[in-house]
Amino acid sequence: MVESSVNNENKSKALFERAQKILPGGVNSPVRAFEPNPFFVNHAKGSKLHSVDGKAYVDYCMAYGALLLGHANSEVVDAVKEQLPKGTLYGVPTELETEFAQLIQKIVPSMEMMRLVNTGTEATMHAIRAARGFTERTKIIKFEGCFHGAHDNVLVKAGSGAATFGVPTSLGIPQETTQNTTVLPYNSTEALEETFKQEGNEVAAVIVEPVMGNAGLILPKTNYLRDLRKLTQEYGSVLIFDEIINGFRLSLGGAQERFNVKPDMTTLGKVLGGGFPIAAFGGKKEIMQHISPSGKVYQAGTFSGNPISATAGYTVLKILSQKQNEIYPSLERNCAELRKALVDLAANYNLEAQVYGIASMFQIFFTSQPVCDMTSAKSADTQKFQAYFRGLLKEGVFIPPAQFETCFLSTAHSEDDVKFTVNAFDKALHAASKTSTGSV
Ligand SMILES: Cc1ncc(COP(=O)(O)O)c(C=O)c1O
Repeated sequence: MVESSVNNENKSKALFERAQKILPGGVNSPVRAFEPNPFFVNHAKGSKLHSVDGKAYVDYCMAYGALLLGHANSEVVDAVKEQLPKGTLYGVPTELETEFAQLIQKIVPSMEMMRLVNTGTEATMHAIRAARGFTERTKIIKFEGCFHGAHDNVLVKAGSGAATFGVPTSLGIPQETTQNTTVLPYNSTEALEETFKQEGNEVAAVIVEPVMGNAGLILPKTNYLRDLRKLTQEYGSVLIFDEIINGFRLSLGGAQERFNVKPDMTTLGKVLGGGFPIAAFGGKKEIMQHISPSGKVYQAGTFSGNPISATAGYTVLKILSQKQNEIYPSLERNCAELRKALVDLAANYNLEAQVYGIASMFQIFFTSQPVCDMTSAKSADTQKFQAYFRGLLKEGVFIPPAQFETCFLSTAHSEDDVKFTVNAFDKALHAASKTSTGSV
């Protein structure tokens, strides 16, 4: 397809109108839809998305965190190209699957055994089933605003698009299912202690995003993750760290390495596949041995561990392992610079704002309250956020189009991209300061 040199936004508009007739809301995942229409992509490379309208955007969505090495990383693309003619799917095992799993295990040692699956949704669904099978208990605990994929057990007071579109608890899920999911506020050890006192012996698992990335960006209070570890151990519940965003991003070894807390089970996805669909769930051998055919917890998948995704993922992990001393400090520096600019510029325009960040993740909330859970996240002025988002888009910077998401950097973002973005922040925050208030 030839990229037009003129900025013709009508092309995306026309494509969106066409898409809406066949795809619900015009998209294949809800957060991709935004008013009046999303731009459609022609191609992407490095830090940039190029639209069919001929406009380039510095991208801080990075496919919702999946692309730590940027778009179309040449080493990943070359490795996949080499694999393609050798076959795309075998239905029988490959040595690569074992090697890839061993490399994951080296980086995330708490995953003594694991299964490769295709999406994060599958990974958390199967991790919860394994925890239930192992403990022979039914209930699970999750935290308000955490998003663990789009399956029945966890679509209760969920974050991400579920929060943005006002359906945190989805229709179509039987009450008999959701009544086994207890939802607690994140960052409250007291709430967890209280619930464990009442129903601790029935709780199969506690699942958490160690750093919340689906309600904006929310950081754990000091010792909160340790408290989760202590209480789950005390009551014999399985602690599942959903590191589908955090994994390989907060540090090479993810949140568990950064905060030095070892969960019983971990789910990984996004960065793991370098832009290809692959995810993993795993943990203690004594739990994972219950997975069929070694045990009686059933789990299966036609495309699981397919050689294309496994090749891409293996290449990503090799690059991250070899260059970790360079990659992670540089990501932290760029992220700190962007955060500082947001703080300074928001103050310049007298905007009440909270800016959070860790490693290569950041987000701004337009509120005077510190944000530590979903309740405080909801105090943010979403009208101002929309003005900020649109202001950035106009300047050629794309961030996830909703307050209840997080911005992501990649290794492809250059110093020039950062400078360009700071300039765009200035204009977008000025625009936000001119809007009237309004929150969810
Ligand atoms: C923390 C977390 N867990 C699970 C998922 C689900 O992953 P997937 O979209 O690959 O099914 C997501 C997706 O955004 C996520 O952020």
